[in-house]
Amino acid sequence: MEIIEKAPAKINLGLDVLYKRNDGYHELEMIMASIDLADRLTFTKTESNDITITTNSGFLPTDRKNNIFQAIEAMKKRYAFEGGVHVNLQKNIPVAAGLGGGSSDAAATFRGINRLFDLEATLEEMTELAIPIGTDIPFCLKGETALVTGLGEIVTPLKRPIPQSWVVLVKPKISVSTPRVFSKIDVDTLTHPNIKALQKAIEDNNYTEMTQHLGNSLESYTMKKFPVVKMIKEKMLDFGVDAAVMSGSGPTVIALCDKHSRAIHIANSLKGFCQEVYVVRTLNQ
Ligand code: C5P
Repeated sequence: MEIIEKAPAKINLGLDVLYKRNDGYHELEMIMASIDLADRLTFTKTESNDITITTNSGFLPTDRKNNIFQAIEAMKKRYAFEGGVHVNLQKNIPVAAGLGGGSSDAAATFRGINRLFDLEATLEEMTELAIPIGTDIPFCLKGETALVTGLGEIVTPLKRPIPQSWVVLVKPKISVSTPRVFSKIDVDTLTHPNIKALQKAIEDNNYTEMTQHLGNSLESYTMKKFPVVKMIKEKMLDFGVDAAVMSGSGPTVIALCDKHSRAIHIANSLKGFCQEVYVVRTLNQ
């Protein structure tokens, strides 16, 4: 039997770093949504006890360093199912981009293993197993537009999904290490987006108000280290997007447009500066 799961990328419409905790992690307040740019994972049972991963991506480890591997190990330890698993990962989400690709793959793995072995694991149980593997996985398990707080493990779905929008994504040819960004930021000097106002605008289905409150506390650090990120955001705004913000710790910059034709036009203009440009929709379950 073969099980297929889609793993959608996430975007941060808002990311506020509140403070650094004693354990070195950061207390966050974020608004996150899923988009229709997705990896595709295929799960099959195998006779041996092994976990094996194949992928079309040249950038990813296929051993224990991969989140998929860790998610299967966690499920096996908790539910003690017999036999091994082979996973084929078709990678479509750019890697180390601020789009939560690795976390979404892990979330898809929890769902896939649950179905493949009929484990009847609840969302709460899978979330508990997910937290030590990656702080964005709890959001990816739910997938709805949400306020995400704590380290990333407290996911509160908003009353409604983000207003229908087209998202132009530009991923410059650099990779950003999230642990490195968090270890380098000076929390006292960060800017703080108004997450409450962003949440209210979304829940009021007010697109214009929403575009005025996009923001990311990590943007200034990543932009200083990689000026190309700043350049992309400025180009997007020059070309007339409704709003633009860096996603996660970067380097991908996302821009919102209410009209598809304008999103396509702007994406084509941006292709002059950057190879990896996507036009996607938000997923509104
Ligand atoms: O858990 P995840 O792999 O997403 O996090 C990567 C790194 O980002 C962590 O190892 C930690 O250094 C940093 N981080 C943090 N505070 C958070 C989430 C992540 O400092 N709330």
